[in-house]
Amino acid sequence: MEIKSICCIGAGYVGGPTMSVIAQKNQNIKVTVVDLNAQRISAWNDTDLNNLPIYEPGLDEVVNEARGRNLFFSNEVDKAIDEAQMIFISVNTPTKTYGTGKGMAADLKYVELCARQIAKVAKSDKIVVEKSTLPVKTAEAIQNILDNTGNGVNFEILSNPEFLAEGTAMRDLAVPDRVLIGGDSSTDKGKKAIQALVDIYASWVPHKNILTTNVWSSELSKLTANAFLAQRVSSINSLSELCEATGADIQEVAKAIGMDSRIGPKFLQASVGFGGSCFQKDILNLVYISKTLGLNDVADYWHQVILMNNHQRNRFAKNIIKTLYSTVNGKTISFLGWAFKKDTNDTRESAAIYVADLLLDEKATIKVFDPKVTAAQMQLDLNYLNTRTKLENANYLKTESDPYVALNGAHAIAVLTEWNEFQSYDWKYIYKNMQKPAFIFDGRNILDREVLESIGFTYKGIGYL
Ligand code: UDX
Ligand code: ADP
Repeated sequence: MEIKSICCIGAGYVGGPTMSVIAQKNQNIKVTVVDLNAQRISAWNDTDLNNLPIYEPGLDEVVNEARGRNLFFSNEVDKAIDEAQMIFISVNTPTKTYGTGKGMAADLKYVELCARQIAKVAKSDKIVVEKSTLPVKTAEAIQNILDNTGNGVNFEILSNPEFLAEGTAMRDLAVPDRVLIGGDSSTDKGKKAIQALVDIYASWVPHKNILTTNVWSSELSKLTANAFLAQRVSSINSLSELCEATGADIQEVAKAIGMDSRIGPKFLQASVGFGGSCFQKDILNLVYISKTLGLNDVADYWHQVILMNNHQRNRFAKNIIKTLYSTVNGKTISFLGWAFKKDTNDTRESAAIYVADLLLDEKATIKVFDPKVTAAQMQLDLNYLNTRTKLENANYLKTESDPYVALNGAHAIAVLTEWNEFQSYDWKYIYKNMQKPAFIFDGRNILDREVLESIGFTYKGIGYL
């Protein structure tokens, strides 16, 4: 079957970039991305490409090329579902904040609503593709809803998890390590659906990089890929504490172990802790699924990755407090960075939020500069924790649009995101205008310790105290 029309439900960090690239590489396919959030859709349609709702290097060029040609952003969800032969579900699946599995299981409310809507609207056969990260066996639930509430048309469910990382999404989409497609190859219809999706990717991805599996392998691979990556970060972070206690150098250790080709050099950068919408959520999912199946040892094993990450964030904040003579009450700590990593405006689960929360508990004043995150987003992130009133958060955490203003008069600087531009700041000038002694807590180990110490700073990195 040749696909001519695609609909993607959810115009977020996954749906937006992925569909832009699919449209760019398949000019014969009409791709419509829909979302309930009208503001988000109008931002995607903004003629000023600086106003796209997502900051992702290179995304603006692809949107500019394909939008209006065969890429469309719309609020008309039903119309797009009706017209499409293939529907991607790319909605958010946050960790549940209520009921059974609270704080662990994925909240599938939005996915289920999508399935029900597809079932209601569809008048012809559809291929439905899970794009959101989902627990194993979600496809089965989607199939059930579609088959039991639909209009008697046929639905084929595929799992096609996204492996793009924010900040490098366009490259990850253009030259993916692999594309994974899970489907039911035991039936003719299933085989055809798999082939239809393979053909879409094959227009730019070499066949050897397109992997087909059964649906559950595909779902589980996504969860475990993220669990393995997060585990590497927690492992290196656990060693950073050991380095602090022994004087070993964490970057030297990372380099030495990374040169073993069986281990490899990536994801060994010690940091204040991993963030992002996926790592914690996916591991919690894995833990929850394992527990539900009675596999308590498996659950405990993976849960430790999260506990180490929490520990690393807390340790970083506590180290700031202890170093500043055990009181930050009335002192100003300036943050460089709020996003969970560089080159994105996404702040979900960012370490900065948790470090700020602990420092605000100690009555510090925080001034933040981030090149891409808005003041409103920072307040939303803090308010979501529910630890203080909105007014307190607004009074004690201020956002500055100029880094030099953010750093002026501070008692200490904390680097929370590894934005490249921080390395080229005028550190002599910054030092002159800070309270003395001037401290830098480099939560990403991106600044030059020797240079900063020669200026007069007291430098503390992750793994170096
Ligand atoms: C991740 C996966 O990489 C991606 O394949 C999946 O589809 C979604 O989840 P993402 O969350 O966008 O992508 O970012 P990633 O680059 O994986 O980084 C996650 C977090 O780990 C960031 O906070 C990053 O700063 C941190 N990290 C990463 C480290 O602290 N050290 C490292 O060495 C690598
Ligand atoms: P992700 O990082 O997984 O892409 P986002 O939160 O950035 O997550 O994007 C998910 C998008 O899905 C949001 O813009 C949200 O408004 C949208 N969404 C959720 N449920 C529905 C639905 N039933 N119909 C249309 N859009 C939806």
